[in-house]
Amino acid sequence: MTSQAESLDVTIVGGGMITNDLLLPSLYHLQRTGVVRKIDICALGSGPLKALADSRELGEAFPRQDFTPHPSLLEAPEKKFPELYKEVIAAMAPGNMVVVAVPDHLHFAVVRHALHCDQNVLCVKPLVLKYDEAVEIEKLAAEKGRLVGIEYHKRFDRRSLVAKRGYARGEFGAFVLGEAKLIEPYYYRSSNFQNWFTCDHTDPFTYIGCHYVDLVYFTTGLKPVGVSVYGLKGRFPNGNEAYLWSQGRVTWENGALLSVLNGLGYPDAAAGSNDQGLIMYCEGKGQTGLIFHDDHQRGVAYSYLEGLGPGGSKYNYVSPDFFRLVPWEGPGYKPIGYGYESVAGITATIHRIANQTAGLAPEAGLARRRQLLREVDTQGLIATPANSSINELVIEAGRMSILQGAKTVRIVYEDRPHVE
Ligand SMILES: NC(=O)c1ccc[n+]([C@@H]2O[C@H](COP(=O)([O-])OP(=O)(O)OC[C@H]3O[C@@H](n4cnc5c(N)ncnc54)[C@H](O)[C@@H]3O)[C@@H](O)[C@H]2O)c1
Repeated sequence: MTSQAESLDVTIVGGGMITNDLLLPSLYHLQRTGVVRKIDICALGSGPLKALADSRELGEAFPRQDFTPHPSLLEAPEKKFPELYKEVIAAMAPGNMVVVAVPDHLHFAVVRHALHCDQNVLCVKPLVLKYDEAVEIEKLAAEKGRLVGIEYHKRFDRRSLVAKRGYARGEFGAFVLGEAKLIEPYYYRSSNFQNWFTCDHTDPFTYIGCHYVDLVYFTTGLKPVGVSVYGLKGRFPNGNEAYLWSQGRVTWENGALLSVLNGLGYPDAAAGSNDQGLIMYCEGKGQTGLIFHDDHQRGVAYSYLEGLGPGGSKYNYVSPDFFRLVPWEGPGYKPIGYGYESVAGITATIHRIANQTAGLAPEAGLARRRQLLREVDTQGLIATPANSSINELVIEAGRMSILQGAKTVRIVYEDRPHVE
């Protein structure tokens, strides 16, 4: 019944920064290892697709590997195809994988369409911006017996996994006070972000604060019960108004407090690529415990001869932990780091379930897939709508709060979870 020869066809929807930096190179490597067969990429227009196809870095790392672009590279870059992903996904054989890498507010429509077309989904974080949407996706995924894995890659950072195990064993005590920080580079302001990262759609807390809120939940298992987010507005070079900085406060069911600092403003000239880290104080019996992760300066610094660093800087802190292309035993380079491991973990799980259920009659296959998916939900390593929708509650509360000048919004779990 099991055939490891089965590989997954993958359609990536979105051809922007995260596709270039993480998703496509990871999937190209999984193509080498036989987990992935064919890769299609659908973007709003031909421009980003051409950039991916012409990328020197990807060409050097993955010689002779390519993808099928939608629309064709021959289309004029100004011509937009906002609905094309629907046709591309509908043309896939059932049980393969759609990777959702479009701006946050478009995730819901693409994920829902992929599930309706009987596909598994890898979605970049955050899954969606509303709790009810997460619940709808959870139900649809269970009905179809398909996995929706949300790519919260910080979960796959070794330090997070070590902390999670230690916390569960009681090595630190109970989390009581913490601070998380993720400040993205200033140069993001002049990227495609200025077209969608506007006050009406998102903010720094929603965009990147969610990583650390998820991580505290992942580590401790505690549920968040209150959110307040203060946002500072500014303008992108194209004049669009956005929240460029934010400070959030998340309270947890045991009374713990987490302060979350976010922004699009880490200096281009500074050693980067960004600034990030987490500190968590914990209460033990007659003493306190501590978890401290410096996720910015991981102990490696390079000073380049040219301005090769992010933002054109010469002196840089280099993280070998998130994502790097390095020499390996095969052709070109291979990806390493928790970004790759996260994409590989979700893809390999979809691949494993597909193979464990291949050859079963439709009814029996669906029943077995549902059983295997429940195991993934319960294990809690891969974020799924069933085990991580506290994130949607936090985001919904955060959006409500920031739009009302940092109003405190409660998350209520009794009866049906909601924010108020
Ligand atoms: N650390 C992380 O986990 C991380 C980092 C960066 C981005 N992301 C997430 O990835 C997503 C995309 O971010 P990005 O930085 O790549 O953005 P981006 O602006 O660089 O790219 C967005 C892409 O979406 C495509 N697109 C937009 N509408 C489309 C449509 N209707 N059909 C097909 N394609 C469409 C655009 O063509 C573009 O290629 C966001 O949800 C973001 O939150 C996650």
